[in-house]
Amino acid sequence: MKVPFVDLSRQFKPLLSEIKTVHADIIDRCAFINGPEVKTFEKEMAAWIDLTETCGVANGTHALALTLQSLGVGPGDEVITVPNTAFPTSESIGMCGAEVVFVDIAPGTFSIDPQAVEAAVTPKTKAILPVHLYGIPADMDALMAIAERHNIPLVEDTAQAMGAKYKGKRVGSIGRAGCFSFFPSKNLGTFGDGGAMASNDQELVSQVRMLANHGRYDKFTHQAIGTNSRLDTLKAAQLSICLKALDEWNQDRRRAADLYSELLAPFAEITCPKVPEGCEPIWHLYVIRHQQRDDLRQYLQEQGIQTGLHYPKPLHLQPAYAYLGLGKGSFPETESATQEILSLPMFPFITEAEIKTVVDAISTFLKEKR
Ligand SMILES: Cc1ncc(COP(=O)(O)O)c(C=O)c1O
Repeated sequence: MKVPFVDLSRQFKPLLSEIKTVHADIIDRCAFINGPEVKTFEKEMAAWIDLTETCGVANGTHALALTLQSLGVGPGDEVITVPNTAFPTSESIGMCGAEVVFVDIAPGTFSIDPQAVEAAVTPKTKAILPVHLYGIPADMDALMAIAERHNIPLVEDTAQAMGAKYKGKRVGSIGRAGCFSFFPSKNLGTFGDGGAMASNDQELVSQVRMLANHGRYDKFTHQAIGTNSRLDTLKAAQLSICLKALDEWNQDRRRAADLYSELLAPFAEITCPKVPEGCEPIWHLYVIRHQQRDDLRQYLQEQGIQTGLHYPKPLHLQPAYAYLGLGKGSFPETESATQEILSLPMFPFITEAEIKTVVDAISTFLKEKR
């Protein structure tokens, strides 16, 4: 049996006729930019995440960059984040003209080490940017305590974690702002690129909205040099429909993750992802660790099982950051994780038979290696 890494059609198919109906209506009205569906989605998302306001933007990268910029982050400032994340996390910092300060992940986790954050704070630190990687919440109590003690805003990179909970609260609603991506394969995905930021700080949200719309609050007055980063009406309407299904989709990912963890538990050579206490991950990705990751990946590929790597090259070793002079060995936890991680097939409605096929293939590989 072939197992795809992701099969978006299974989640979209049951909703397609409803989506096509609203899309036909928007096309009839030619309400492509700033149609009423955008406001409606922003309100629904705010209620869903339990914050007062959200602002839709063109993608998750802009959600981060415009939020940081609206917090006053700019040239000469520093923002602390991890090298164990997708490039856009740190890219957003550079887009504001600020400098990224990388710190390692905590041992045994995939998320930022609060102790390393504390040690990296300087008078230039203008924001802390933890990532809820793979949909597993970062250590928010410890991080919020540092942010509050130093009076530095904390922005949550929630691109991979829409719906995950930390001590009962949805992530993205704990820090000063949460930034989301609606890239098609994200837990709430759209038909193309999309993103949003969310906050209880209405001033901050309205600043992001202004910057995302060419720096204007009203049609003919430009307050600042902004950009064009709006969420399209067609996408907002589709996101409203899909938001209603998101809890069910996330629940189904939990079922799949639980089954993987149960079936993989007997294999000592495989490290399954841990669920931190008080957290409800939403398993955007189910990522195992294995010392011969590349061989295992190759073997699964030969069996028709697609896997992913998120992410094989730590950001401090990317050519774009060569100027920082951070060589190999700078962040040992991140560097060892990036060599061992393997993302297994994970998506809503992946079948039990597909998961068992993946685990059987891993089991055969391990037996052949012994
Ligand atoms: C952790 C993380 N941050 C930010 C982003 C940026 O989102 P987008 O692709 O919508 O710009 C992504 C998605 O690639 C991501 O995975």
